[in-house]
Amino acid sequence: MKTKGGIRIAIVGVGNCASALIQGIHYYGPNRHNEEVIGLMHESLGGYRPSDIEVVAAFDIDARKVGTDVSRAIFSAPNCVVKFEPNIPDSGVTVRMGAVLDGVSEHMANYDEKRSFVRADAPEPSREDVVAELRRSGAEILVNYLPVGSEKATRFYAECALEAGVGFINNIPVFIASDPEYAARFAERNVPIIGDDIKSQLGATIVHRVLTDLFAKRGVKLLHTYQLNTGGNTDFLNMKNQERLASKKTSKTEAVQAVAKARMENEDIHVGPSDYVPWQNDNKVCFIRMEGHAFGNVPMELELRLSVQDSPNSAGVAIDMIRCCKLALDSGVGGVLAAPSAYFCKHPLVQYTDDEAYKMVEEFITTHSTEAVPA
Ligand SMILES: NC(=O)c1ccc[n+]([C@@H]2O[C@H](COP(=O)([O-])OP(=O)(O)OC[C@H]3O[C@@H](n4cnc5c(N)ncnc54)[C@H](O)[C@@H]3O)[C@@H](O)[C@H]2O)c1
Repeated sequence: MKTKGGIRIAIVGVGNCASALIQGIHYYGPNRHNEEVIGLMHESLGGYRPSDIEVVAAFDIDARKVGTDVSRAIFSAPNCVVKFEPNIPDSGVTVRMGAVLDGVSEHMANYDEKRSFVRADAPEPSREDVVAELRRSGAEILVNYLPVGSEKATRFYAECALEAGVGFINNIPVFIASDPEYAARFAERNVPIIGDDIKSQLGATIVHRVLTDLFAKRGVKLLHTYQLNTGGNTDFLNMKNQERLASKKTSKTEAVQAVAKARMENEDIHVGPSDYVPWQNDNKVCFIRMEGHAFGNVPMELELRLSVQDSPNSAGVAIDMIRCCKLALDSGVGGVLAAPSAYFCKHPLVQYTDDEAYKMVEEFITTHSTEAVPA
């Protein structure tokens, strides 16, 4: 069986997540046989394999990435993601200068260059320039990996996607797919969008949600809970600036609130990025505590520690989001893709439990799949 043609994507923000995604596209190449495929939710999704994804354009603002082949930019400082696929040939795609806007927090300047962003001095593109590059490259989907708090920059690139008519995948907690006005505009233009804020494969959010759902289903009243996260990548460094965190906190907290039996008082639930620990690099450690009352109103407690490599943890989910977006493009479906957004993102337009969202996304894949092309 031969798979369908490629899926051409453009990336904004060639950081650790983009690196893990591109490494994954090569790692799960055509020569990796079925029995070796570990870590994917779907090996083939609607006839598309991970290696069908091709990066045709990329934007960043870091001097060590702009002007560099994207295959080398993904291993440039300050990226610190684990190198699980070192054999990545040059792609012929050069990272282009992006529009900086609010992408770079001022506090980053107080940290060593190997840990923080270094702004390139190349001229910034206008919206027309970005739209022209999306069209020239033949990109079908624009994948947003900007730093948390990039409100203006995310809107800028979302407008470019709308204008160029390319699908938009919003991995970050700036509310676009979950904003009814943007949702309506993507629907009007019949451009598919999935968002907001990618939910990692086995990360803090899904674990906290599943446990919260379990408390509800097993009749245990959840009284207090926290989720503390530490990490040492630029995502965590960026999030030291509390002013950039409002939407991240909302996204992460609402993801848990949405599956609680009853909405908890704000002071009984604390969910957030908690600190930047440089030596952890891309290792994210999450501590969850849940206190409740069970049968007979008797107290119980649960404590959990989860340790993951942050960026690879999101890349498989991104690969499935890209393939679902492509299925929508193939089927001529535009607007917010409700099922993929609910299953793959923390802050969709409409929240469902993970069980419901899982069933919905599998149905979406079946509905929009056409048979793979026979060899
Ligand atoms: N598991 C996960 O890793 C995970 C989960 C959920 C959400 N996210 C979100 O995904 C986003 C990307 O995460 P990351 O770890 O790759 O971050 P990162 O800091 O490694 O990468 C961000 C990249 O964006 C670039 N950039 C900054 N401003 C820009 C602009 N205006 N235009 C173009 N490029 C710009 C930076 O130079 C950097 O290369 C973050 O917002 C993060 O919170 C990640």
